[in-house]
Amino acid sequence: MNVIVVKNAQEGGKEGYQIFRQVKDRGGKVFGLATGSTPLTTYQELCNSDIDFSDCTSINLDEYVGLGPNNDQSYAYFMKQNLFNQKPFAKSYIPNGLAQDIAEEVAHYDQIIADHPVDLQILGIGRNGHIGFNEPGTPFDSTTHEVHLTPSTIEANSRFFDNPDEVPRYALSMGMASIMKAKHILLEAYGDAKADAIAKTIEGPVTEEVPASILQKHSDATLIIDEAAASKLH
Ligand code: F6R
Repeated sequence: MNVIVVKNAQEGGKEGYQIFRQVKDRGGKVFGLATGSTPLTTYQELCNSDIDFSDCTSINLDEYVGLGPNNDQSYAYFMKQNLFNQKPFAKSYIPNGLAQDIAEEVAHYDQIIADHPVDLQILGIGRNGHIGFNEPGTPFDSTTHEVHLTPSTIEANSRFFDNPDEVPRYALSMGMASIMKAKHILLEAYGDAKADAIAKTIEGPVTEEVPASILQKHSDATLIIDEAAASKLH
């Protein structure tokens, strides 16, 4: 793993942008995207740049079950607001949170990932080490699946909702094996709430109890972390 320590999320966004730029300049056409607060500075840098994704495909990591793209808490809505309105892709895929048949949607999404090998996957990390919605204990060989969110993730995500009861209890997420197939992985983490998860990811054993620890096994993974997130590294 290549670890870049920056002062803050602002600086991290500039580094993140450079990685998108390099992958794009080398002919990368498929970008795996994440939501949440972490990638926002990178998306801001992309929006403020002349980078052009109009010949590219994006594939998002996850979506809440029960929320459609017009719901302002859905990840589809988030992506429009924070990236796609300014930087449209030729085609953008996000799991369909309103799918009637979840098994069919999951198989369909795996086919999309198989048909479009991801050149660069951007990730945030949960305080418990989750990536995507792959909570601790998720098998490393998992592909796209429906997830029952843990109480800690529901609580962490409730900050975006008016009422914690509105936070969906289920999500669809790319699996661990799907994420690991990306040619390059960029994980960003900012703030001391992420310090434990980052220390375990970089220095701990590779274990399904810390999903992000699998990145130790990836041949081309970069971590951009700020000093606070790096504070528990030895
Ligand atoms: C979002 C996602 C999640 C978040 C993680 C960190 O698409 O897959 O794994 O990256 O929960 O969230 P933030 O960035 O809000 O701290």
